[in-house]
Order: sequence, then C-alpha cells, then structure tokens
Amino acid sequence: MVTAIKKGNLHVVRLVVNGEEHAALVKSNTTLLDLLREEFDYTGTKKGCELGDCGACTVLMDGKTVNSCLVLAVEANGHTVTTIEGLERNGELDRLQEEFINQAAVQCGYCSPGMILSAKALLVRNPHPSEREVREAIGGNLCRCTGYVRIVKAILAAAEANS
Ligand code: FES
Ligand code: FES
Repeated sequence: MVTAIKKGNLHVVRLVVNGEEHAALVKSNTTLLDLLREEFDYTGTKKGCELGDCGACTVLMDGKTVNSCLVLAVEANGHTVTTIEGLERNGELDRLQEEFINQAAVQCGYCSPGMILSAKALLVRNPHPSEREVREAIGGNLCRCTGYVRIVKAILAAAEANS
C-alpha cells in the first residue's frame, strides 16, 4: 500500500479510476464508496447497507472485487479501480452488460453494477465457469428483485460469447 500524504487533518489520495488519474483530499474515515460517488461522481457504484453485506457497492480494485463501503479512501491510494462506468469501451457496452439487458436480468437495477463487476472478475479469471461457479462468484451480491435465475443466465450467456 502506498501511504497517502497527510495535509492537516486530511489526506491526499491519488488513484486511477476507469483508466483516468484522480486525486482528492479526504478524511481518515472517508470510504472508497463515498470518494467514488461524491468526489468523482461515479454514481453507478451503489450505496446499500454500508456494512459489507449487500454487495451493491462492489468495484474492482487491481482487478479484484471489493466492497467499496469497507475500503477506506486512503487504502485505495496508489491503486487502480474499475467501476461499472469503466466497462464500456468507445461507446460499446461490455458483453456482460449486453447480456443483462438481453436476458432481462435487470429489474430495479440497484444490484446490477455490483453484480456485473463480480461477474466480470469471475470471467477474467475463469472464462468458462459452471453455473455453480457463477452462483458462488455472485454470492456476496444480493438481489431483491430477480430471483437470480436471469442474472445467472446472463452471466453464462456472456461466458459463452468467450468461446
Ligand atoms: S453497501 Fe457495501 S456491501 Fe452493502
Ligand atoms: S434488480 Fe433489484 S435488487 Fe437486483
């Protein structure tokens, strides 16, 4: 971890979000979730329980899923973060995003960014997961609307496109 520089009661944090360098002055107890949403305006990252239980705030930090409500902004200093906004490339949605639409896996959509990022991390480390592996990978992401069937279908359909 690169230690954030202290300025009075605040800390200077620098991190790369979705390929762009960002810097901010934060309090010791500012979370990565609040930094992303309130300072950098990446509001695709959702705030749910703020306790590490719901997964709505999931982002990728150096390619691994984290609950951004449980990561302090100072801990993210020097790291690379991907939010849901970072999956789109040159105006094209990621295949996972497309399949969530195709398979009607989005209802209220509150869980979708975190769910898709958990799925993204899975498909990067395991391009052809089984249904059980998909369900395990999204085990920390709660959905109150869909019953998960269409979400799992969407992830498997995106994986199939990897062939
Ligand atoms: S808001 Fe972070 S896990 Fe629920
Ligand atoms: S679509 Fe509403 S919580 Fe998942």
